[in-house]
Amino acid sequence: MTKKAKKGGAKLRSEEWFGRHDRDAFVHRSWMKNQGFPHDLFESRPVIGICNTWSEVTPCNAHFRELAEHVKYGVLDEGGFPLEFPVMSLGETMMRPTTMLFRNQVAMDVEESIRANPFDGVVLMMGCDKTTPALLMGAASCDLPTIGLSGGPMLNGRYRGETIGSGTHTWKFTEALKLGTMKMSELPEAEACMSRSAGHCMTMGTASTMASMVEALGMGLPTNAAIPAVDSRRKVLARMVGRRIVQMVREDLRMSKILTKEAFENAIMVNGAIGGSTNAVVHLLAIARRVGVNVTLDDWDRLGQSMPCLVNLMPSGDFLMEDFYYAGGIPVVVKEIGRFLHKKALTVNGSSIWDNSKDAVNYDERVITPVAKPFKPQGGIAVLRGNLAPQGAVLKPSAATPKLMKHKGRAVVFEDIDDLHRRIDDPKLDVKPDDILVLKNCGPKGYPGFPEVGNFALPAKILKQGVTDMVRISDARMSGTAYGTVVLHVSPEAAAGGPLALVQNGDVIELDVERRKLQLHVTSAELSRRKAKWKKPPPHADRGWVKLYCDTVLQADEGVDLDFLAGKSGAKVGRPSH
Ligand code: FES
Repeated sequence: MTKKAKKGGAKLRSEEWFGRHDRDAFVHRSWMKNQGFPHDLFESRPVIGICNTWSEVTPCNAHFRELAEHVKYGVLDEGGFPLEFPVMSLGETMMRPTTMLFRNQVAMDVEESIRANPFDGVVLMMGCDKTTPALLMGAASCDLPTIGLSGGPMLNGRYRGETIGSGTHTWKFTEALKLGTMKMSELPEAEACMSRSAGHCMTMGTASTMASMVEALGMGLPTNAAIPAVDSRRKVLARMVGRRIVQMVREDLRMSKILTKEAFENAIMVNGAIGGSTNAVVHLLAIARRVGVNVTLDDWDRLGQSMPCLVNLMPSGDFLMEDFYYAGGIPVVVKEIGRFLHKKALTVNGSSIWDNSKDAVNYDERVITPVAKPFKPQGGIAVLRGNLAPQGAVLKPSAATPKLMKHKGRAVVFEDIDDLHRRIDDPKLDVKPDDILVLKNCGPKGYPGFPEVGNFALPAKILKQGVTDMVRISDARMSGTAYGTVVLHVSPEAAAGGPLALVQNGDVIELDVERRKLQLHVTSAELSRRKAKWKKPPPHADRGWVKLYCDTVLQADEGVDLDFLAGKSGAKVGRPSH
């Protein structure tokens, strides 16, 4: 086998564009040559698409243009031909109403961009929250050899001598402002102290969780998750990714060979061990549907139940991603929980997850605790069911207040986010600390887009009593950087006519996390009476993406993909355009 050839001498996909002796190949090569590519790059070299989510309005990915250059060096080192292409980016802190409304749109962009172009393999450049699942979903539906490259977390935040974490301290500062212990005039300094470098949120929020999932699924090279964005070793990793993807094309190592049921089960267990974000639930369900692997909410509950949380990172703990990298990162976590994992699961470097991790050394047991002495006894995601959530709801025990995980209380209901904003801080609001706050119409169809509002701040009058947590229930998600006894992803959502829509002020709700129960203590006859009076909310749009999304989006227990996007179509070369 020559360095340029594919395993078994099979033809490269890109040769349908560049390797022919006809007018179409002339057109494909000639126009590309306007960028200064020498002719030999078009001769039977694996063409590697570098899918870049760089954008100045996605600050977490703003360093991606430079990082992509290092991927290109690696591709060229190994005899490939790198071609960078953009897809829509999703800036979590910028986009309204919520980036999650557009995750599936980006996945479609990625899928069609890969399929329509002359790529033999793909590098996915991902960072800010939704960019990771969106790119994995789109690429999975094409099933070419693919590696995920995360952009890395920001450096630790530091404010007036205190270590502060992205997002996590946003919630803390919000509460301090409500309490009057922080002034508005202090915010500009705090803003700069929180976001000190390129990279994504450095707490164990959704971005860090999903970068960890990339590694745990076997879709990234070891240490992908934690190297800080500005550490020179992130550039080295990018270069190694560039080299490895060319080899993967030669080996025909496709995504579907890596994303097996075992890989998803490993990722779910690693999510428990790192105290990962609840958002990983919907994203992994959606990715699994694309590759045709059956992963359900029950897998999350089954595999998470016994998994201790080892990683002491905010929002549940004290440290940040930079500390996690110095302690050893995901390979140490994998080594610690190895006895639970599918050790033989294949990863993109051609070795098993266990072979990649078995020699990892834990350099700081304050950050990654040994499994025999875990940071928290329960790290997984609890899946709750009952007449309030017939298709399930989720709660993150490691972020919750232990005494509230078994609680019965009176419902204080907000019909939607506007109602919440209008009344939550009203001194006349009838609310007591042991009530349960219920927020409706914030699910995939309801908001629309399934925003991260489930961890809404407590009423000011409650905070002033020194109370820091109450049970909150909604059909929304919550930021991975948030904390609290928060029941999320209630399915079916209120806007789809789920029982959540029928809850009224004063109803009694019972939460029992140990028994996985979420029960509305209202008779079924009364619920039927209320259902008969329920009216579907008016549509959010009569055209465009929002209409397509609202008409076809699945519920949280199915991953919130569009119903017609399940599965994969491969990467068959289409007809020429001329
Ligand atoms: Fe981009 Fe948190 S805002 S990862």
